[in-house]
Amino acid sequence: MNNLNPIVPNQILILFAHPALEKSRVNRRLIQAVQGLESVLIHDLYEVYPNFQINVKAEQDLLLAHDIIVFHHPFYWYSSPAILKEWQDLVLEHGFAYGEGGTALQGKKFLTAITTGGDKKAYCQEGYNRFTIRELLVPFEQTARLCGMEYLPPFVVQGTHSLQERHQIDQHAADYRAIITALRDDTIHWEQLRQVNHWNLNLDRVLKLPEVPHHA
Ligand SMILES: Cc1cc2nc3c(=O)[nH]c(=O)nc-3n(C[C@H](O)[C@H](O)[C@H](O)COP(=O)(O)O)c2cc1C
Repeated sequence: MNNLNPIVPNQILILFAHPALEKSRVNRRLIQAVQGLESVLIHDLYEVYPNFQINVKAEQDLLLAHDIIVFHHPFYWYSSPAILKEWQDLVLEHGFAYGEGGTALQGKKFLTAITTGGDKKAYCQEGYNRFTIRELLVPFEQTARLCGMEYLPPFVVQGTHSLQERHQIDQHAADYRAIITALRDDTIHWEQLRQVNHWNLNLDRVLKLPEVPHHA
């Protein structure tokens, strides 16, 4: 039977920032895992703007054309690499993203996808980083909220230096692809997702299994 009511996929914009991609072990693999997915645009900021001359209008047009905005980067000094901060400062303008008439991003969803050198144990009150990842990501969360976007739990790959090539990095890359695909296709248990701290370890609970096709 023809599908008479095709579901329109969400358009996803991945703002990717890694200043030394040639040296990357983890983010390179994560980004490869989502390359070529329909309705998913990977926008590599260091590649497009090697001199940090960000085209504000072009970036705002990209935001307008997408439903889900992803910041994907390694965690650098408890934040993002510099270009993503420059992007925020310039692109999220008053009257566009917030303030009077600044409604362009309202109703969109926002996801952070990060990798951290520190492992899970380091990111708690007793650990050497003293704060949880969710606490340290609060500036991103509040930025998204101020712009009227729904802040989703982050996707976080931790302890990158001790991850083994084959098994562990491959698994994270597969998880990332599954999450981006599910966000695109809206195959998510939203109420469950909103209750978790981050996606990792909760994938079985928050992703809807693909429907088994019916044969006539
Ligand atoms: C400038 C710089 C700052 C960093 N800051 C942090 C940090 O604040 N917290 C952390 O856990 N790891 C930090 N790291 C480690 C990176 O997050 C880690 O190397 C990266 O996630 C590994 O991903 P990759 O293989 O794609 O480069 C930092 C690394 C660099 C180069």
